[in-house]
Amino acid sequence: MVIVVHGGLAEEEFLASDALLRACEVATEAMKGKEAIEGVESAVKVLEDDPRLNAGTGSFPNLLGEIEMSAGVMKDDYSCGGVAAIKNIKNPISVARAVMEQTRHILLVGEGANLFAHLLGFEPYDPRAELTIKTWKESLHKAEEEKRPIYRYYLEKAQEKLQETHWGTVGAVTKDEKGGLAAGTSTGGVKVQLPGRVGDSPIVGCGTFACPWGAVSMTGEGEEIMRWGMARRIGEWMEEVSAQEAVNRGMEIALEKKILCGVIAISKRGEIGWGANGGMLPLAYWKKGMEKPLFTLVD
Ligand code: GLY
Repeated sequence: MVIVVHGGLAEEEFLASDALLRACEVATEAMKGKEAIEGVESAVKVLEDDPRLNAGTGSFPNLLGEIEMSAGVMKDDYSCGGVAAIKNIKNPISVARAVMEQTRHILLVGEGANLFAHLLGFEPYDPRAELTIKTWKESLHKAEEEKRPIYRYYLEKAQEKLQETHWGTVGAVTKDEKGGLAAGTSTGGVKVQLPGRVGDSPIVGCGTFACPWGAVSMTGEGEEIMRWGMARRIGEWMEEVSAQEAVNRGMEIALEKKILCGVIAISKRGEIGWGANGGMLPLAYWKKGMEKPLFTLVD
């Protein structure tokens, strides 16, 4: 059994290592005798529930001050599911898993994603947290700096009603006792975000990917991660090379194309790989044989 979780590309010192370590512990328990996807869902739920992290509770608001969340999951048999721009849900990762397991589709968005969650009995939930106001204000200043006329409409409408968080997307990759692999990623998006914007996290092969050779979860600049299909490349490279070598190849592309991103990966052989370009990546991991999970900050 192997578990790696991340707390998003961070620009500053990371203060939520306890949440990452707890996510590892919870996933270890959840995966006993069960599939890798159980570990991914339970770990990501712990991170979504932590208001210091930009996913679930504590997600960044968009420029209208509303929270729109996205999440994706994938297994090594290519089954996958995701939700994008979903609102008023506690754990988008669980709805993403339900899309994978209970529909013929891969991605549900906006109102349709909310209706689906409602029909399945997910309770309405307000994901705002006390912490986000400062960072949201900073994002509005950045939007002003854009000096594009279209932003003026959103800035005029923006209300100071939401919270502060400093950190990024969250994610997990796992390998179960039978060797099955899974990946999952969940996010509130980026700081200067138009309503309706969707990033890489729920998109197969971009922020989240699993195949018979490996599982990958990404964080960072969603548009660039999507443009270059980062998670799929890294996942497929694990057929030939170790998890760390596949991540290193991905980071070479990130350096060349100037993509701000972080990545965690597990190969079918149980190797772990990680990397970050342009920030620090807080993560925790546990492998069979380790006494307890360990935290590390990759830069
Ligand atoms: N990487 C998260 C996002 O761009 O939405």
